[in-house]
Amino acid sequence: MTDEQTPGPESTPDLRTRLQRTRRRLARAEQRLEARTAQLEKVQAELERLRTFTLDVFPDHPVPPGLTARLTAIRDEHLTFLTGEQLGSLVTCVLETEASGREGILVEAGTAQGGSAIAMALAKDPSRPLKVYDVFGMIPPPSEADGPDVLQRYEKITAGKARGLAEDQEYYGYRDDLLGEVAASFARHGVPTEEHRVALVQGLFQDTITGDEPIALAHVDGDWYESTMTCLTRLAPRLVPGGRIVVDDYYTWSGCRTAVDEYFADRPEFRVEMRAKVHVIRRPS
Ligand SMILES: C[S@@+](CC[C@H](N)C(=O)[O-])C[C@H]1O[C@@H](n2cnc3c(N)ncnc32)[C@H](O)[C@@H]1O
Repeated sequence: MTDEQTPGPESTPDLRTRLQRTRRRLARAEQRLEARTAQLEKVQAELERLRTFTLDVFPDHPVPPGLTARLTAIRDEHLTFLTGEQLGSLVTCVLETEASGREGILVEAGTAQGGSAIAMALAKDPSRPLKVYDVFGMIPPPSEADGPDVLQRYEKITAGKARGLAEDQEYYGYRDDLLGEVAASFARHGVPTEEHRVALVQGLFQDTITGDEPIALAHVDGDWYESTMTCLTRLAPRLVPGGRIVVDDYYTWSGCRTAVDEYFADRPEFRVEMRAKVHVIRRPS
């Protein structure tokens, strides 16, 4: 061993100094990591708050506990594609409509098994009419204005491969008497249609959504381009000032997104709010 390789007595303090320096560096790195973690947690909390905010449209009109239990019952029966939060958000729009005393009927276009419409019926004043439009059978085909996402989904439906909302549930479009089932669900959940001024209107939106009654609130949930465009064309002009359309599928189906973007591109009388669901409000005139 040469002199260069043998640690001399003078190298021990040198090693100690280096060790201390390394420990100090490590401590500083740990502090920085802690600070970054705290920052990250703050950002995550803020993101969560914003996400909730976008569904929390009317914090001054919270869903009362009794109604929350009924919404849970609707979801437990797998009657809706909406999450509990989304259903609650729609219900607060009905509660706000009632509290404001705004005139006009309620509308749902696209109801499938009825879950969201039943929730609307539960939240409204029984004297305010609710019109529920659906083909109550197989969803109509998409058009050229729909994208590949829609075409794929429709192919699956027509191939008989679509699944129900629960493991043991048949896809709603394959059932023999969906209209009868939906009417029974309204009654079972405490809002029999005839006593609550609910009209279940069967047929294509293109044929059934007619008339000129003023509308206070509409839930548009028809998936495809033509269906959505028909709803917007027929419903939006009838919105009362402050009246609202909640569009369910903007972030889900390309055709719906195209229809909303096209229809409201040049209509300044409406305010489009990009929330977790898209809300369209008629500005006061
Ligand atoms: C996504 S589902 C509605 C879901 C429901 N709102 C819920 O709470 O889960 C869409 C419904 O709209 C119906 N629909 C779509 N386009 C339609 C049209 N042009 N005319 C009538 N019904 C239509 C479909 O048959 C289906 O029942």
